[in-house]
This record gives sequence, C-alpha cells and structure tokens, in this order.
Amino acid sequence: IEVDPFVAGLPKCELHLHIEGTLEPELKLALAARNGIELPYADQAAVRDAYAFDSLPSFLTQYYEGMSVLVTEQDFYDLAAAYAAKAHSQNVRYAEIFFDPQAHTARGVSFDTVIRGLTRALDDARRATGFRGHLILCFLRDFQAEFAMATLVQALPYKEWIVGVGLDSDEKGNPPVKFAAVFARARAEGFRLTMHCDIDQENTTEHIRQALDVIGVERIDHGTNALEDPQLVEDILGRGIGLTTCPISNGVVTAGMKATEIKRLFDLGVKVTVNSDDPAYFPGYVAENLAALRAELGLTDADLIQLQRNAIDISWAPPAVKDLLL
Ligand code: HPA
Ligand code: ZN
Repeated sequence: IEVDPFVAGLPKCELHLHIEGTLEPELKLALAARNGIELPYADQAAVRDAYAFDSLPSFLTQYYEGMSVLVTEQDFYDLAAAYAAKAHSQNVRYAEIFFDPQAHTARGVSFDTVIRGLTRALDDARRATGFRGHLILCFLRDFQAEFAMATLVQALPYKEWIVGVGLDSDEKGNPPVKFAAVFARARAEGFRLTMHCDIDQENTTEHIRQALDVIGVERIDHGTNALEDPQLVEDILGRGIGLTTCPISNGVVTAGMKATEIKRLFDLGVKVTVNSDDPAYFPGYVAENLAALRAELGLTDADLIQLQRNAIDISWAPPAVKDLLL
C-alpha cells in the first residue's frame, strides 16, 4: 500500500491497537533467542508464511502462540518501545493501546511484569518524542468471567496507568452479558468502557445491543454490523458512541475491508475512526489503513481530517490533551 504525502503527514490518533499484535517477526525471533525459546521458524519469512489466517479464530491461534516469547519486563518494554517508535514515525501523536494481561498471567508471567515493561516504554517514548500512549486492559472473552474479575482486581493498584477496559478474543459463544458484573465493577472503579463487537460474528447485532444497553460502553471496537439494524445506528448516533474500525484487519479475517460500511456510518455522522488492530499480523500500521481506505473510497483530505477529529473526540484523553491534539 502506497501512503500518500497527505496521509503520511497528517497528525494521527489511534484507539484500536493490540500491543501484542505489534510483535513483528524480527522481534519475535530475537526475543525467542534471548529467552531460549524454540520456535519452528528458520527466519522472518517463515514466521510470515505461517500468518495464513482467514478468520478471527485462525488469527488468534497465531497471535497467542506468538506472544509466548514475551517473558521478562524487558521483553514488554521492547515490544512497546518498537510500537511507539513506529507510531512516532507515522506522526501518531496519541494512542490508546490494548494489552491482554490474561494471555500472560495464564502462562505464569506476572501482571506486574507486563504492565511495568509497557508503561516504562511509553513513559520513555513520551519524553523522547512526545508520543503519548495510554493502556486499555482487555479481558479475554473466551475465558471465564471469574478470571476477568480477578484480573480487574489485580489491576486496581495500577489504576493510574490504565485508562479503560475492553473485551477481545473469540466472540463466538461469548456475548457481552457474560461480563456484565466485571464491566459494572470496572465502571465503579472509574475505568472507561469499550468492547469488541467483531465483524460478521454470530449474533453480532445482539452483541452490539448488549454492549450498548447492558454494559453501557462508550465505544465499540469494530461494530460496523450495526448497519444491519437501523435502531442500533440510531442509538449509536444519538448516544455519541464511537466506532474504532480496522479496514486492513477486516480484509484479512472477512471477505473485505468493509469500506462501504465504514463510509456509510461516517456519512451518517457516526464518530467513526480508522485504526490498525494488529499491524504485525494484518500488514499495515495506521497510515497504511488510512491510505487503503482512501484508495478504496476516494476519501478527500477533509474526510481524513474529520476521521482524526473523531478519534480525538472519542478518545479518553483529558480535555487539556485533547486541546493539544486538535
Ligand atoms: N478481535 C478479537 N480479538 C483480538 C483482536 C481482534 O480484533 N485483536 C487481538 N485480539
Ligand atoms: Zn481488535
């Protein structure tokens, strides 16, 4: 994907990015070597060749296998430092970054190790380049709600480093209501709320309805299937709910980027944003996502500016930072 000069230079804000999904083959191999972990890949090309997924579950298998090389605080530091440098190179000024602590604590890496490495890298990047990154704790929906609740309690001492909570992983059979008590507690603790309603999942519109009415989210990650139900679109518009869409990711796990759906919602006035999701796996960081969407739809410079305004608007940055970004 060719990134044109306007997209390259545009100041950007990204709200749907999984830090574990930024683990590039090069770093994956380096961390495996550093930690004495055997991977069945001879080189970077072999790692990439294994990324032959065509659905959310087949992606998730590679995603969880890949993160097994993340063990020490330094590993998490290096992961976040690499993303922050890449983001800065694309003129991303601000990002809200998902992390999946349960994917690490479930294999014996402590919550403390994960969050200290990530936040130290983001603090250093902020000082070095001005790039601001904030963390969103994402619960894994294919684990039990009790594990999510225990993880939320584990996160409480680190509240100042976590702006909100989300929900990701395999959506099939794992509706929002499964986590109603977890999200209610998170809200009471002062966290902002979002969750994935992934593209073309079973019962998608029902899940969006639950996210809005039972959970009371402020944003939905993906969520373009709302178009299937006019009442959902009306409620999303009326309540000012933001959508964090991910065109290149959509194109990998479904038949297309959902570009026309994204544009329809944008034209209706929904606070639509464009994001990269898991850029090491769905090839393209946020600039490439914007460029791909622009190429598909013929977006104008003004459209691209409006997408960034939407992102600042629905971000959870404090008002003073929003002013700075605008
Ligand atoms: N959807 C669900 N789970 C995920 C995703 C996603 O886009 N990225 C990382 N885990
Ligand atoms: Zn995602």
